[in-house]
Amino acid sequence: MQLAEYLTNLEDRVDSLRLKIAVIGLGYVGLPTAIAFYNAGFKVVGIDVSSIVIDRLKNRSSQITEEVGMEIPHGPRWELTTEYENYIQNCDLAIVCVPTPVDEKHLPDVSAIKSALDSIIKSINNDSKTVIILESTVQPGTTRTCIQLSTDKYPESKEKILMAYCPERVSPGEGGYGVEDVPRVIGSEDANLTRILSKLYENITSGGVIPVSSIEVAEASKLVENAQRDIDLAFSNELAILLPRLGLDVEEVLSAASTKWNFHRHTPGIGVGGHCIPIDPHYYIEIAKRNGVTSAMSPAARKLNSMMPAFSADEVIKLCGERPPKKVLILGFSYKPNVSDARETPVMSLIDELLQRGVTDILVWDPHIENPELPEQASSVSDPYHQLGVDCFIIATAHDEVKELNWNKLRESSLNPRIFDGRRCLPPKMFIDGGWTYHAIGRPWKWKN
Ligand SMILES: NC(=O)c1ccc[n+]([C@@H]2O[C@H](COP(=O)([O-])OP(=O)(O)OC[C@H]3O[C@@H](n4cnc5c(N)ncnc54)[C@H](O)[C@@H]3O)[C@@H](O)[C@H]2O)c1
Repeated sequence: MQLAEYLTNLEDRVDSLRLKIAVIGLGYVGLPTAIAFYNAGFKVVGIDVSSIVIDRLKNRSSQITEEVGMEIPHGPRWELTTEYENYIQNCDLAIVCVPTPVDEKHLPDVSAIKSALDSIIKSINNDSKTVIILESTVQPGTTRTCIQLSTDKYPESKEKILMAYCPERVSPGEGGYGVEDVPRVIGSEDANLTRILSKLYENITSGGVIPVSSIEVAEASKLVENAQRDIDLAFSNELAILLPRLGLDVEEVLSAASTKWNFHRHTPGIGVGGHCIPIDPHYYIEIAKRNGVTSAMSPAARKLNSMMPAFSADEVIKLCGERPPKKVLILGFSYKPNVSDARETPVMSLIDELLQRGVTDILVWDPHIENPELPEQASSVSDPYHQLGVDCFIIATAHDEVKELNWNKLRESSLNPRIFDGRRCLPPKMFIDGGWTYHAIGRPWKWKN
């Protein structure tokens, strides 16, 4: 079938919801994407290498869907499998949502993408064409190069693959920024295909779809978004170190500055975590270097954001009279509020920094994570109220459950009611009036006025 004829047919199948879509990698990105396409009326096959993931989903259990407020589908339009072979050949489209981490040298690791693409391309139906859309965050050029590497292994597939890139921009746990809300950017190897795929994605998001001129523009746009966010966060964190030395509270200054229409307001904190912001800038730094540009800003931002746990640990020691507190209770472990995702959580580094400063008794409470993977010197507790002998509390994640704690009750059970708000999520007055010895990130020790 010629390309024009194939695309006419594809558009007809998009319009009439007759596509069968494979979503590869059923994590924070892939699972909501698969469900959104199912909810839009398409047939969906969810594929994941992990049998644990597939078994849980078959049992209709998932922390991810709970957090994003979606229901795991069941019925004839919904299939789940660890196998590519017998499923991909019946699909019109494969959407790849596998992880893109960095290795121990902070270099991009796209092995999951390569492996997923090999498995897809090996299994496609060579009597027809298959569209592969990559959603994982990558460097510009990755989609084309990796697909070519796979089709080189299976030459009969060469004319059968059409490729596109559509970065995922969700923010799990943050209302209004899910798969069904965020605007999508999409680029492909053919303008007509981009137009048809834009129509496809319009079925799942109310945020609109922005077609761009190439796969590489779409790839670069995602990398730039997250590299910029890391830089913005680093600046607010730097201000949280500097402004208190001038006797100024970073929050008051940022709130005043943000009344200007083009100011980007961020809240400083104990550090930056997750699968995106601490990782994606390394993809940017590496591609810049490979192309003869030494990024000045991204490495500086990475360095600054990475030192926030150490800075926070120093602040805690200062709050406790320059001595390590006897027993610390850290409130929150995940990297951001209201999710159970602890990937690259800065709380891990904070614990290490506290241990290095002589704190020996560290408890962690996170209402979203039953058994966080902690260093052996720290332990997790399921109840924040009845922990005897705590002499310093640290707010590490601004979960709703943390903000809604009964602080009077906590103070009464405390050996010494000291609190460090590492997220600036509660009003200082509440603690000061409530009899706490209080400090927070970006707050001066000595006031100017
Ligand atoms: N988590 C986020 O908030 C977010 C937001 C935007 C973009 N992204 C990007 O989306 C991509 C996926 O991230 P995530 O957070 O969903 O990851 P995740 O770890 O939550 O999920 C990835 C899933 O892929 C599976 N997998 C790995 N290799 C596979 C393979 N070869 N075949 C089939 N399945 C495979 C894993 O078992 C896992 O279930 C990354 O590139 C990430 O940078 C993530």
